[in-house]
Amino acid sequence: MTEVILHQPLDMHLHLRDGEMLRTVAPLSAHSFSGALIMPNLVPPVTDGQMLRDYRQQILEAIGDETFEPYMTLFFKPEYDFDFLAPLAEELTAVKLYPAGITTNSEGGVSGFDVEELRPALSAMSELGIPLCIHGETGGFVMDREKEFVPIYEELAVAFPDLMIVMEHITTAESVEALDRHPNLYATITLHHLLITLDDVAGGMLRPHLFCKPIAKRPEDREALLRVALEAHPKVMFGSDSAPHPRHAKEAPGCAAGVFTAPVALPALAELFARHGKLENLQRFVGTNAQENYELDPPKKKVRLVDTPMKVPEKYGDVVPLFAGEEIGWSIASVE
Ligand code: NCD
Ligand code: ZN
Repeated sequence: MTEVILHQPLDMHLHLRDGEMLRTVAPLSAHSFSGALIMPNLVPPVTDGQMLRDYRQQILEAIGDETFEPYMTLFFKPEYDFDFLAPLAEELTAVKLYPAGITTNSEGGVSGFDVEELRPALSAMSELGIPLCIHGETGGFVMDREKEFVPIYEELAVAFPDLMIVMEHITTAESVEALDRHPNLYATITLHHLLITLDDVAGGMLRPHLFCKPIAKRPEDREALLRVALEAHPKVMFGSDSAPHPRHAKEAPGCAAGVFTAPVALPALAELFARHGKLENLQRFVGTNAQENYELDPPKKKVRLVDTPMKVPEKYGDVVPLFAGEEIGWSIASVE
């Protein structure tokens, strides 16, 4: 039997939703992860200190007695300034910027990327040491949206050299290349973008549960992502982008974007890293890199993963997970 022990695994991009959905999905992440960066795209989005505190409280109630730190984010608004952000800096781990309308619940995001317009908010974040996480896609052709956004990432990285900028859920070779050109650019990578390409989504029968933003790209893009994930490039961190939607919203003429991966993330990552002979790098990809880059001190948790197969449930509540009804080669043996 092969095993790997992870200490303080972290998921640096997670959608927990609210209400009933939160109560269904939060315990699944809280069980196996020490903490996660919680996305703010609720309806309405999390845009002030009171909403942030209320949401954190809801999450803590939903996870019961699991040991888990929700690292909170605010939904970026160009109006944020130093006086607004300074009193929140202790409660915030990052601010998440969405281009307006680019993905689920992002209507109130940023239109146009005018550095001068963004300067007050981004200078304040830079001064306060608050990282900026970005959903980097333009409104262009769906396969080119992320590639077209790379110059915007680079412009921001140069204009705000002391601001930590995280390129969220990168899916292209171009984003991987940009990482090493700027000391303040970082990235998260999902599980599903390490596993699938557009062919898996739409190359045969359409598979709505694999449809997400950014859409999975070409084999050579996946190769580039795999390369930096498997070597646990120090600026690359695991962020599942686990994004649950009720089954009726996925199996529908207008399919919502998002892949629900939280309950299978660690076993599937272990299987992937083992298959490539890189298990020794998994700790850095799924914990240590994020701890160092974000300067986090997550609650202690020791997760033992073994190469004993796991049968993935068809559904969790009303949500269909990645690998629903299938077997994956690894499972969680214990969590302490
Ligand atoms: C996310 C969601 O459903 O909130 N969807 C997705 O496809 N990833 C939003 C996001 O991160 O883009
Ligand atoms: Zn997301």
